[in-house]
Amino acid sequence: MRRSRIWAALLLTCFCSEGVGNERARGTADAGPVGDSRRELSLPPHPLNYVTVAFPKHVSEVEARFDNQPTDNPITNHGATLGRVLFYDPTLSRNGSTSCASCHLQSRAFAEDKRTSVGFEGRSVRRNSMSLVNLRYYRRGKFFWDERAATLEQQVVMPIEDPIEMGHQLEELVVQLQRDPIYPPLFEAAFGDGQVTTDRLSKALAQFVRSIVSFRSRYDIGLASVDSVLEPFPNLTAQENLGKSQFFGRARCAECHLPDDDDRPVSQRQAAFFQLAEPTVNGIDPDADDVDRGLGEITGQPSDAGKFKASSLRNIELTGPYMHDGRFHTLDQVLEHYNWSVRPHKNLDTRLHDFAANGLAIPEVEKVALAAFLRTLTDHELILDPKYSDPFVKPTGNGNSNGDVERPHGGNGRERATAG
Ligand code: HEC
Ligand code: HEC
Repeated sequence: MRRSRIWAALLLTCFCSEGVGNERARGTADAGPVGDSRRELSLPPHPLNYVTVAFPKHVSEVEARFDNQPTDNPITNHGATLGRVLFYDPTLSRNGSTSCASCHLQSRAFAEDKRTSVGFEGRSVRRNSMSLVNLRYYRRGKFFWDERAATLEQQVVMPIEDPIEMGHQLEELVVQLQRDPIYPPLFEAAFGDGQVTTDRLSKALAQFVRSIVSFRSRYDIGLASVDSVLEPFPNLTAQENLGKSQFFGRARCAECHLPDDDDRPVSQRQAAFFQLAEPTVNGIDPDADDVDRGLGEITGQPSDAGKFKASSLRNIELTGPYMHDGRFHTLDQVLEHYNWSVRPHKNLDTRLHDFAANGLAIPEVEKVALAAFLRTLTDHELILDPKYSDPFVKPTGNGNSNGDVERPHGGNGRERATAG
């Protein structure tokens, strides 16, 4: 009963009035950016379901082996809902312009179509945004292209303080959210009381991100109707099935992008997550000092130079440009790399040694088929699923001069303080 009152209250009062905005502006010069004063959330009275998801067998049978969810932060419906609101809230950035979703778009399977991302003041970061699909099942549980975040709970607050991405400070942000009428009720529903803390902020964001799992593509429908992933799928075209046989066979893509414990019989290997087992070198760069050294930069080990993690290949059709620096714009360019352009490197993954020497050399017909197979991994339900969508109500454009929700102008001087 308590819960439903909270939610009813949220629905009624989240049309945060001018007065609230003024109060926040008046209250503190230190509270960071004042968000738009007319923000309204659209959340149902009962939270959406993030906990009990009906995975197909090929996911449910293997998920426990790969799950990186920590015991002290299991997904709850209220926790993931709070995470969703935070994820879409631009007031988490210094000047109120940039949310997580600015660079991780649902329509792009939570990546974006820019070569490298642009932060809150219009400056570019050096790498390409990563898809946030299936992070829960990255067994090593480390994040970023170079794995510099040791857990997802650590990772999700790093963009907030990154000087290019969102430029805020967690200490100030916690005070700001505590004063924002939207948040205390959401924190209460998720954690039992309305106290905003950095730990809770990070837990809620991590819950939301872990809830983003993709399992509703044509590939999944096909796999559910056969005994082995190696059989032709009845719902795929002959061309897509030819591409699938390349992916699992001659082109060796599955050996890296669909890994499992080597001692497992084929019949028990996972065919679900499409994530690498660990960062490795796929030969896009030479072994040189002037290139991004990825994991090697973090560990300082020469044997890690050039190693990168990659996002899940699920929804790869939507997540381009590709590679850590977004150098390839099309899947065809990616396949051309593996086909003819794998470069020698002292840490090149042994699975690619033969391609570096002789080329993968798959003929055009098979190459086009392989790209067609990769497009069967697109999950159209994921990119439309309301539980992952922006919960803030868009302005109606009724001529109201305050209607510009996306570019709030708090006028608290902080934007000027950090500009330049
Ligand atoms: C300015 C654009 C931008 C914003 C804003 C942003 N990200 Fe990212 N995100 C990126 C880029 C670029 C990378 C890859 C960076 C790297 O590896 O060096 C990334 C990587 C990640 C990863 C790692 C994924 C993996 O598989 O290892 C996660 C998780 C993530 N972001 C979540 C978030 C969350 C949560 C927020 C909001 C608090 C956020 N991002 C805000 C651009 C952005
Ligand atoms: C030796 C392991 C290995 C093999 C084999 C391999 N890849 Fe990769 N792949 C990687 C690594 C590592 C990256 C990330 C490299 C980077 O960005 O620096 C990657 C990146 C990618 C990307 C870009 C992902 C993104 O989100 O930007 C695609 C697409 C891809 N590979 C497809 C394939 C296909 C198709 C095959 C088979 C022809 C294949 N890979 C074979 C290791 C491998």
